Amino acid sequence: MKKILNIKEKIKPFNKSIFVEGDKSLSIRWVLISSLSKKKSTAYNLLKSEDVMSSINCIKTLGSKVKFDQNKCEIIGNGLNIKKKGQLFLNAGNSGTLGRIILGLLINSRNKIKLIGDKSLSKRDFSRVIKPLKKFGASFNVKKNLPLTMKGLKNPKPIKYIETRGSAQCKTSIMFAALKSKGTTEIKAKKSRNHTELLFKYLKIPIEIKKGKNFDVIKLKGVKKINSLNYKVPGDISSCAFFLVLTILSDNSQLLIKNVNINPSRTGVIKILKRMGAIINFRNQKIYKGEKIADIFVKSSKKLRSIDCPKKWNSSAIDEFLIIFLVAAKAKGISYFKNLDELNQKESPRLIWASKILDLMGVENTMTSNSLKICGNPNLLLKKRIMIKNFLKDHRVFMMSTIAALTFGGNWKINDADSIKTSFPKFLKILRELNR
Ligand code: S3P
Repeated sequence: MKKILNIKEKIKPFNKSIFVEGDKSLSIRWVLISSLSKKKSTAYNLLKSEDVMSSINCIKTLGSKVKFDQNKCEIIGNGLNIKKKGQLFLNAGNSGTLGRIILGLLINSRNKIKLIGDKSLSKRDFSRVIKPLKKFGASFNVKKNLPLTMKGLKNPKPIKYIETRGSAQCKTSIMFAALKSKGTTEIKAKKSRNHTELLFKYLKIPIEIKKGKNFDVIKLKGVKKINSLNYKVPGDISSCAFFLVLTILSDNSQLLIKNVNINPSRTGVIKILKRMGAIINFRNQKIYKGEKIADIFVKSSKKLRSIDCPKKWNSSAIDEFLIIFLVAAKAKGISYFKNLDELNQKESPRLIWASKILDLMGVENTMTSNSLKICGNPNLLLKKRIMIKNFLKDHRVFMMSTIAALTFGGNWKINDADSIKTSFPKFLKILRELNR
């Protein structure tokens, strides 16, 4: 059933502290890594969302045992080899991260693997992982899209690969395949989020990283076993970003978002918002198992300025552009966002959706295949009816629309409220608490 969210009023001023749910990238990685250890791994605050549940269902199919109560999840994995017989059927649901990474993990599987996904995932590009995994020796029945069938091999050959998109999913898929190969794999990867590198280092997996300006060179040796991984998942900065922008665009409000992952490969959104005039600061910074964590304080901003967004920040803000575009809509001046081809490769073509929503809001904008120019209007106040539908249930399109409705006014009907279940099931609950 389609759940429609109707918003007719702006949010009231608020001054509160909140927690956002566990980081999605770290949650999926924890589940997949734990499946490779034969010992028990325990996680607290694992994100309980559809993407993570799809990950859990996949590793159960591969032979792991999982217990997930309230806030605690335990996994006893099946080690580095899959001992199931016959063809294995995996469903990655909506998750590109799961779909792409798990193929790397399956490189040494002798079973035929059939991988499917939902309507959105079936439109997304899998050639970016099929290509390197073929170099390891795997075979596939398709070139680009799901559904696909993959066959691995007993002794994958280590590879040398250059990853040029800055896709952490692709890099991680190769890293998982490298773990199962005899010898050293070398990946020259355009900079992207580095959670897998940090987790592998923490697990004492033989990994060597040479950091360059735009690329990192990762050398990774195959292993015979993997230790268990106990983990407390910090809050997701990509979920937090919606509340940062909500606060920035609201009147007389302030918010403290506690225990958020502020890994520098994810904090592009903070740099961009600060350059646009936002007041944001980190409190109680600490390091947890290689990851930086902090409480993030944010206040309403009366004076927002436009930005010519530096391309070098794109990768570390890739999931946050939709919400950043709303700040540009309110900022004084013209903002430019360039080289964003990858935005149209997400759960929906996000550049196209951003431009559509800005059009509906009456915000002047010009889109090309990889850029968006936004003419901001500091006095923008909406009175009209706006309907958002058919966005392939992209959770971030839904959340962007909700924040626009709560900060710019108007009478909005936003379809597919259940889309938030993929990454941030408590999104609407937290909003209601702020508006009490
Ligand atoms: C992710 C990497 C990014 C990001 C996605 C999560 C990850 O995708 O957009 O939401 O966890 O590795 P790409 O690797 O395709 O850039």
